[in-house]
Amino acid sequence: MEFRVSFIQLLQIVLEIRTVTSPDNVRGGDNCGGVVDLTQVGAMTITATDSDNDGIYDDNLDCWWAFTVDEGTIVFESNFFNIEFQSSCGFDWVQLLDGSGEFLGGQAKYCGTTIGSSFQTTSRSLYLWFHTDFCCVTGGPPTGFNFTVKAVLP
Ligand SMILES: *[C@@H]1O[C@H](CO)[C@@H](O)[C@H](O)[C@H]1NC(C)=O
Repeated sequence: MEFRVSFIQLLQIVLEIRTVTSPDNVRGGDNCGGVVDLTQVGAMTITATDSDNDGIYDDNLDCWWAFTVDEGTIVFESNFFNIEFQSSCGFDWVQLLDGSGEFLGGQAKYCGTTIGSSFQTTSRSLYLWFHTDFCCVTGGPPTGFNFTVKAVLP
């Protein structure tokens, strides 16, 4: 638990730095992370960065998103998911952390093609971390993800 709380704090620090250095991210304007107030935008769809549009997501990514709502909770939906499989998701992964400190779906990392189609937070924030290693994406094309994140008003 202490680890998770400090992990959230670390993410918040990283995201605050990104917010300051990259104003586009405040609006969720680039496709590799950002701080998004869903109270304002309602819902947002994000996809894995694929700079050359070959259906294979980029190497060496660490994309962090922080989604928040002023009131209520957040629903996460997966429309598409295909991330290089490894038994402990040790190469490339997606992590979904509820602001409560719990991992959504109870799993710390997701890879392969298996992720719940829908999750709901118990808190007003959702942190999403997409990590890829240096090479060798398998399992596609197409690979990557397409997620929709929505505000749920109380
Ligand atoms: C993401 O998935 C939704 C729902 O299937 C679809 O309408 C949308 O076009 C997709 N977006 C991208 C960028 O692939």
